Amino acid sequence: MRKITVSDLQLGMYVTELDRPWLESPFPFQGFPVESQEQLVTLQKTCEYVYIDEGREHTATTPSSRPRTVSRGATQPVTVTQARTDLTGLGWRGRDSFRHDMRKVLATRGKLHRHVQRLLSDVRFGRSADTREARLLTMEMVDEATGNPAAALWLTNLETKHEYTASHCLNVCILSIVFGMHLGLSKDSIIELALGALLHDIGKMRTPVSILDKPGLLTEDEFDIVKKHPVDGFNILRKHKEVSEKCLEIVQLHHERISGQGYPFGLKGEEIPVHVRIVAIADVYDDITSNRVYHEGIPAHTGLNMMFHWAPRDFGEDMMQEFIRCIGIYPIGSLVELNKGILGIVMSTNPASRLRPIVMLIRDAEGKPYERRPLVNLARTTPGGGEPKWSIKRVVDPREFGIDLGRIAELEAGV
Ligand SMILES: [Fe+2]
Repeated sequence: MRKITVSDLQLGMYVTELDRPWLESPFPFQGFPVESQEQLVTLQKTCEYVYIDEGREHTATTPSSRPRTVSRGATQPVTVTQARTDLTGLGWRGRDSFRHDMRKVLATRGKLHRHVQRLLSDVRFGRSADTREARLLTMEMVDEATGNPAAALWLTNLETKHEYTASHCLNVCILSIVFGMHLGLSKDSIIELALGALLHDIGKMRTPVSILDKPGLLTEDEFDIVKKHPVDGFNILRKHKEVSEKCLEIVQLHHERISGQGYPFGLKGEEIPVHVRIVAIADVYDDITSNRVYHEGIPAHTGLNMMFHWAPRDFGEDMMQEFIRCIGIYPIGSLVELNKGILGIVMSTNPASRLRPIVMLIRDAEGKPYERRPLVNLARTTPGGGEPKWSIKRVVDPREFGIDLGRIAELEAGV
């Protein structure tokens, strides 16, 4: 590996490392050959120096065409050559279409949310869980979220107020659907994935509320009790014919980690099926980025960075990288501050330029709401090809500015 300044970089060279975190660049982290003039110019604009692998010049294949195998468990490796990279298209089809999508997804999310709240409370009070209705509504959600992923992802950022568990289950369900779709899973697989994700924490209804809602750290004994929820969940659901083997695996194994340090069985690497790992990533991501009784949520891009560092131990680097490619560094629905204190909401991811998505402006520099909520494409350069006019300064917590993202979603949807 040799360090060179970007002015010495040439077509055909194989770049293995940049002088900055790869998350802050549009390039894949596993290395790539410089294949076009455009790539060369982008590298020269982004970095001062890079590291190259002289042994790989001329022989490299492009990252997008190199098959990446993600383990589906011991029996079925799945090759993710078809992983979707066009989340801009997926995330953005125009304002009218987005508003229409938002109306449909809001309605489906509302129905599913009410059902999950009832289902969880039924289990808490010893009644049987209506998994038949859960399956039907999940199938509806799969239709909506695969048809309108941007609108569905938007709704995973809503403030959950006093209620956490049902919203968490719903968010993990939506994130898993969109991630499964990104990985190219079939619709049938996505339905099992989504139902497993929705029900993954059902066993927590057997955990005492005093432990679940305890602010601060748990004692070792309390944590041992929490660790029972995957097996409790499995036992609650195993006689339900609507709940498949794959769903049960998700419920029982979503705290397993590839290093073998997870629970309840300490499974390792490929012993953990890919549908379980999808839900594990969605679960941790939603957990650390949401406000809970025991912690304040952290901004999405900080959470993704942390999870990327945990990935070799917990989820696998390939899977984690795909998740980041799927939802973007500034996920759809995040509230961001732009130049001059203007606030906006991320509307679409931009794989070619991760730091420059499409943003809907909601408050001007004086803090006044924009009536028509204009859209700006942060990647658009100024006339004459100069630097783009807008950029993101930071991700902000909606509560800091008293902003209700749910209300804005309703206004956008016109409901
Ligand atoms: Fe869990």
